[in-house]
Amino acid sequence: MSQTILILPGDGIGPEIVTQAEKILNYLITVQGLPIILEHGLIGGAAIDALGEPLPRETLEKAKSSAAVLLGAVGGPKWETIERHLRPERGLLAIRSGLGLFANLRPAVLFPQLANASTLKQDVVNGLDIMIVRELTGGIYFGEPRGIRTLENGERQGYNSLVYAEHEIDRIARVAFDVAGKRNNHVCSVDKANVLESTELWREIITNVAKEYTNIELQHMYVDNAAMQLVREPKQFDVIVTTNMFGDILSDLASMLTGSIGMLPSASLAADGIGMYEPIHGSAPDIAGKNIANPLATILSLSMLFRYSLEEISIADKIEAAVNQVLTDGLRTKDIFTSDTTLVSTEEMGDAVLAALVAVI
Ligand code: IPM
Ligand code: MG
Repeated sequence: MSQTILILPGDGIGPEIVTQAEKILNYLITVQGLPIILEHGLIGGAAIDALGEPLPRETLEKAKSSAAVLLGAVGGPKWETIERHLRPERGLLAIRSGLGLFANLRPAVLFPQLANASTLKQDVVNGLDIMIVRELTGGIYFGEPRGIRTLENGERQGYNSLVYAEHEIDRIARVAFDVAGKRNNHVCSVDKANVLESTELWREIITNVAKEYTNIELQHMYVDNAAMQLVREPKQFDVIVTTNMFGDILSDLASMLTGSIGMLPSASLAADGIGMYEPIHGSAPDIAGKNIANPLATILSLSMLFRYSLEEISIADKIEAAVNQVLTDGLRTKDIFTSDTTLVSTEEMGDAVLAALVAVI
């Protein structure tokens, strides 16, 4: 039986990077005969322009009936001034929430070929392999009440709520411990329990769940210290589990250890079934349409899609091997370019990965 993959290119560089991943999908379908049907949908600014809302009902319905979703990026200056609840980013949050994608896996892996593209010393980042498990459908991103209100004295006040219920912490803890069990059995839970009650509860629940995972070593760290440790000695980490906002921030930080935010993929998983796959970077409107964006984070997200949603491990491995090969061949988009390598465009990088895949398949 065929499985459907819904493709949501989104905005900015989204369409051009997703096109590169689609080349791989089309090859796997038409030449290798993989039983996959590709559907396309609108999200973010593209959906606002066409249909007046960042997550049209049709897109969410299509996503719900798909095996997996591959997303580019959303947002851009064009939509920054429209009503808050209609902005592109709201579409992204709504699809995460609408599909119940509470577990966001963000691997930060250094390809050895890129060790000199990192701004950190090579011996600090060589061999880096961290998995950030970010809670994705709760916390301050979704907590109520939220808004901008006018106080009695006429001054305006912005407010958000950092809210976590026990079950939300419990389930993300289990994902982190399970992931660690397949890696190096170490979990660092990042919170701000010395100041924020919601993360005091976070720490308590994580500690309780850990008692069921006797093979896993659990450590707690405050987020400010974690940010420092990630730059000071990043290789001390195996799995990091943290809240929605801390995970957002720390994953951008971790990406720079690997050379570029253009290299980091992600998988967002629901309790059972559907997964959504997207690069962790944004829509980069400043470089959109210039054919210079790095498509590798999206291509690696496609690899995660095969690994986690379709359970096609061998294809996932081969896509990663193809990415490895183009890097070994010295091909680099602008963000990871160094003087001893060959500068290529978005298109050329996509074609090169496809050619490398064809060679190993
Ligand atoms: C990310 C992005 C999003 C987030 C934005 C675009 C809403 O930064 O996926 O990390 O904050 O989650
Ligand atoms: Mg982010």
